This record gives sequence, C-alpha cells and structure tokens, in this order.
Amino acid sequence: MVAARGHFYPTPFARVWAKAMINSYPAAEAHASHVHAGLGSLRRPCKPIKHDRKDMSVRFEGTETYVATADLNVAVNAAIALERPLLVKGEPGTGKTILAEEIAKALGKELIPWHIKSTTKAQQGLYEYDAVARLRDSQLGEAKVHDIANYIKRGKLWDAFTTSERPVLLIDEIDKADIEFPNDLLLELDRMEFYVYETKERVVAQHRPIVVITSNNEKELPDAFLRRCFFHYIRFPDRETMTQIVQVHFPDIQKNLVREALNAFYELRNVPGLKKKPSTSELLDWLKLLMVEDIPPEALRSREPGKLIPPLYGALLKSEQDVHLLERLAFLNRRERG
Ligand SMILES: Nc1ncnc2c1ncn2[C@@H]1O[C@H](COP(=O)(O)OP(=O)(O)OP(=O)(O)O)[C@@H](O)[C@H]1O
Ligand SMILES: [Mg+2]
Repeated sequence: MVAARGHFYPTPFARVWAKAMINSYPAAEAHASHVHAGLGSLRRPCKPIKHDRKDMSVRFEGTETYVATADLNVAVNAAIALERPLLVKGEPGTGKTILAEEIAKALGKELIPWHIKSTTKAQQGLYEYDAVARLRDSQLGEAKVHDIANYIKRGKLWDAFTTSERPVLLIDEIDKADIEFPNDLLLELDRMEFYVYETKERVVAQHRPIVVITSNNEKELPDAFLRRCFFHYIRFPDRETMTQIVQVHFPDIQKNLVREALNAFYELRNVPGLKKKPSTSELLDWLKLLMVEDIPPEALRSREPGKLIPPLYGALLKSEQDVHLLERLAFLNRRERG
C-alpha cells in the first residue's frame, strides 16, 4: 500500500492516477478519495439505526379522505412492522401516490416525496456534487471553494435519513427510471445508509423511514429489489368501495346520481376492446362535471346498458379509438332498435 496526501492507495497506478487528478482539478481530491473511501466505509462499524418501537404498534386504517380496503391496511401495517419498503402497484388512478400522503397524515409523519422521471438516477436521491460550480468558483477565487461540502446538494434519501422523526418517503413511479435504478438503491434501502465520497462522510438514517414505492408496471423490477419489498396490488375498487370513495370526495352528492353514474361507469369499463378503461380519478372528475353541469340522474340511464355514450364522456375516455368504439356501438344499437 502506498500513501498519497495521507490516503492509502492499493497500487502504484492508483497513486499516479490520484496525484494526476489532484493536480489537475480542484474537485479531484475528493474524486481520488473514492478508492480510499470505498475501503474505509467497509472497515468502519455501522452505527445502529433507531427502531421506532412505538411506531410498530401504530395501525394504519385509512383516513377521512382515503378509503383503504382491509387488505391494503394489512399490507401497510406489515410493511411498517417489517421495516421494509411497501411496493404498491395498480391501475393508473387507483390511489397509489395519494396512499403515501395519507399514511403520513394518518401517522402524523412528514412526507418526503421523490417523483421519478425517465432521466432520474439513483445517485440523485442520495446527493449530487456540483463540480462545475466549484470549478467556476475556483476560477473566480471564491473562498467557499475550499470547503467541498458547499457543492454537495442533498437528495431525498438524505433528507429522509436526517429528519428528527421517522418520516414517510415516497418513491413515486419507480418504473419510469431505467432498469438500473432499483438495483442502485438496494444497499441504501436495505442498510439505510450511504457514503459521501467527496466529504468522506457517512450518512446513516436516524430513523428508518417508512418507504412507499409506486409502480405502474411499465418495466419489470429486478428480483433482488422485489425480495426486499412488501408487495401490494391495489385491485380496482368494487362498487361498494367506489361508493365510499365518491362519498369522501363529494359528501353532499345525490345518492341517485352516484347510483346511475356508477352503473354507467362500470358498464363502460366492461365494454370489450377499450384501450384505456376509465379509473377512479376519471370517475371523480366526471362526477364533478355532472354536478357542475347539473345533469339529472335520469340522463345517465339507458335501456340497453353499455351501448350509449354517457354525457360528458370526455372526462372518462382518453383516446379517440375508444370514442369511435362507443360511437359505433351506439350507432348499431340505434339501428337494431329501428
Ligand atoms: N381509495 C381512495 N380513497 C380516496 N380517494 C382515492 C382513492 N383511490 C383513488 N382516489 C383518488 O383518485 C385520484 C388519483 O389518485 P392517485 O394520483 O394517487 O392515483 P395513482 O394510482 O397514483 O395514479 P397514477 O398511476 O396515474 O399515478 C386522487 O384524486 C385520489 O384522491
Ligand atoms: Mg401516481
């Protein structure tokens, strides 16, 4: 082992590389220390994370604004007790994202949302090092350039690891990111810690966050990742559950209107060949429109169910193929009736 600026490098090549980096660029010292830090982080004992026993006895049972079925409650409480991320899948609009907000609300926790895009990298959840800003500041002779910590931007996981109370961390739409994303977070989500190479700092969660991960199934998630999660699929709400959901959103809505609207809604979902079935969020939008436009419940009733286009269908159908399909069904229906 040879030393370069007080760090130990395993080979002469590593020393030459490290020195070249240090001399060429102000940020390079930190980059060079990756070699050292990688070894150092393995050697250092792991600080134990506080396990919030009092939280384990807390039960989630939905909220005034969120209708949770019994199986969903079981899944949420199991994930909290096991201290594993809760992976939630389900059709779009079935309340996956809002679930994390409601868990936070019900348990009185802070919500830290991390919305994933196709370009999001796992590292951004930990921290980002702004080497460009540091280079610019070094050219301008700024004093702050000497402290590399000034150029470290904390990510959502870091925020979640350093809150004073156990937070709820939402990793929303994990399937939007590339296939490496979940794999790159395995260790951090398992051990709830990571290493900041630039500052040689180890960030360990003060409390294990309650992690909710949502997916729309656009991509398969790796087995190693799935193994670490508690899985729950939100089944599309049955009529009874949907009536309750409507009730929490529109407590003053007419019962007749809900009944007729739900008839039309479930008939529409049953039309074979629909490209995009309307979901809970579309139903809620549609009901809101029906109330604003003062559409009477009778207008939603058809003698031959499933064959007539509901009023203000634009809130329910989201593709021209589906609109054409319904128009053709309505046309055939009219012709049959003469
Ligand atoms: N069980 C429920 N109780 C109350 N409201 C619900 C429920 N399920 C869905 N909703 C309502 O449906 C809407 C959509 O919810 P949300 O955005 O969480 O869906 P999602 O599953 O995350 O959809 P996407 O996959 O498109 O992101 C919200 O307005 C939410 O209030
Ligand atoms: Mg969502």
